[in-house]
Amino acid sequence: MYRLLSVLALVAAFTATEAQDPPSPYDCVADSTLVSPQSCQNFKIPHLVSDQINNEMKAAYLYQAMASYFARDDVAWPGLSKFFYVMAAEERTHAQSLMDFMALRGGRVELKPVELPLDAIFTTPTPWGPVESMKRALEEERNMNGDLLTLHLAANDDPHFQNFLEEDLLNEQVNAIRTLSFYVTQTERLKDDNHALTEWDAKLSGDPHHA
Ligand SMILES: [Fe+2]
Repeated sequence: MYRLLSVLALVAAFTATEAQDPPSPYDCVADSTLVSPQSCQNFKIPHLVSDQINNEMKAAYLYQAMASYFARDDVAWPGLSKFFYVMAAEERTHAQSLMDFMALRGGRVELKPVELPLDAIFTTPTPWGPVESMKRALEEERNMNGDLLTLHLAANDDPHFQNFLEEDLLNEQVNAIRTLSFYVTQTERLKDDNHALTEWDAKLSGDPHHA
């Protein structure tokens, strides 16, 4: 009797082992604080997406600070102020679209403190104008493009996320770099002509990506 029970126990254990599915290469990360075990599939880098949300918010904060600076009564570049308010709003939109993506894929958003970049605009004795601000914005967008390309590389086994990055963020990033490069060239060309620069500022439209 004892032998029979032992044999039955062995068979049951073997059957249970056989019934277990092997781990899928499309399983999500094991840490359930970062993903939903219920809906997540093949989403392994939610922590990097949270980092990118923070990058977008940092850029928004920088542009918001620049917009406020150019709206000051003793600075008074209204076109630049409007331009950077629109840029700040766009960065917040990018952060939101990444948060929406996390919800779609079963990721958990981790919001972190947003640091304001320690920028010369707040400390320099020389007032900032069109040239300095366009150069700073171009630098910011080039850095952001690098961050997005790094993220794209990290997602090399996740075509759905790569497609999202390409269509929702990278395309716009390339356009932003192109537009800001134009603005750097234009402001450099006009920088010694205050009247022309004031006209240029007045013409800055609300849409920063269609120069
Ligand atoms: Fe962005």
